[in-house]
Amino acid sequence: MPTLLHLDSSADLATSRSRAVTATFADAWRAAGPDHLVVRRDLHRDPLSHLADPALHWAPRLRPPGSAPDPVGEERQRAVLDELLAADVLLVGAPMYNYSMPSTLKAWVDHIHVPGVTAPFDEPTQPLAGRPAVIVSSRGAVYDAGTPTEGWDHAVPPLRIVLGDALGMDVSVITVSRTLADVVPALAAERGRAAEELARAHEDARSLAARLAGV
Ligand SMILES: Cc1cc2nc3c(=O)[nH]c(=O)nc-3n(C[C@H](O)[C@H](O)[C@H](O)COP(=O)(O)O)c2cc1C
Repeated sequence: MPTLLHLDSSADLATSRSRAVTATFADAWRAAGPDHLVVRRDLHRDPLSHLADPALHWAPRLRPPGSAPDPVGEERQRAVLDELLAADVLLVGAPMYNYSMPSTLKAWVDHIHVPGVTAPFDEPTQPLAGRPAVIVSSRGAVYDAGTPTEGWDHAVPPLRIVLGDALGMDVSVITVSRTLADVVPALAAERGRAAEELARAHEDARSLAARLAGV
């Protein structure tokens, strides 16, 4: 069965833009037919703990001699890895928090980037190569090319590197910026563009989900 793994990490359970856009994507995926499954992991409501032991960054055969990670932490990592490896498409809600990703999402990344299991080390290990990963990025302010804050986004680039370069996934990014235009007076002039970007993001989510679902 075609399976979508749907992750959210926004701490905002009421007005989150990333949650709204990932929901649009997941709804379009479900609409492709009853065989199209959605597996949901809410990293804010049900956070993973931090990686229990640095040895867990490596495949068991690559761990430093004498390492003995806590079996509970190892089992938790195995479950998160199995869930990702079973997914045909990965969807990640990734709000910008302090120019980076939420710590809840970073904890998930620390669990799934494992050289020798999901990424190459001494062999070309990339079981997720070519599988689609869709990042929904929501950012309060403006990071357009040519603005003083161009290049301040440190949320999407590490996700692109880990999912795209290390794991070999086919990464797409849907971006909503200016989300604080309604509440920050200095961004008031951005309200119109904020609304346009949000509408376009929903449309992009719908069409990309349909295409990836084979509709
Ligand atoms: C803890 C925290 C840190 C934030 N840091 C930034 C930031 O560095 N830059 C920015 O543009 N917006 C920042 N914001 C605003 C969020 O990026 C914005 O509200 C975004 O829409 C959050 O995604 P969501 O709508 O899916 O919750 C921050 C919000 C929170 C809660």
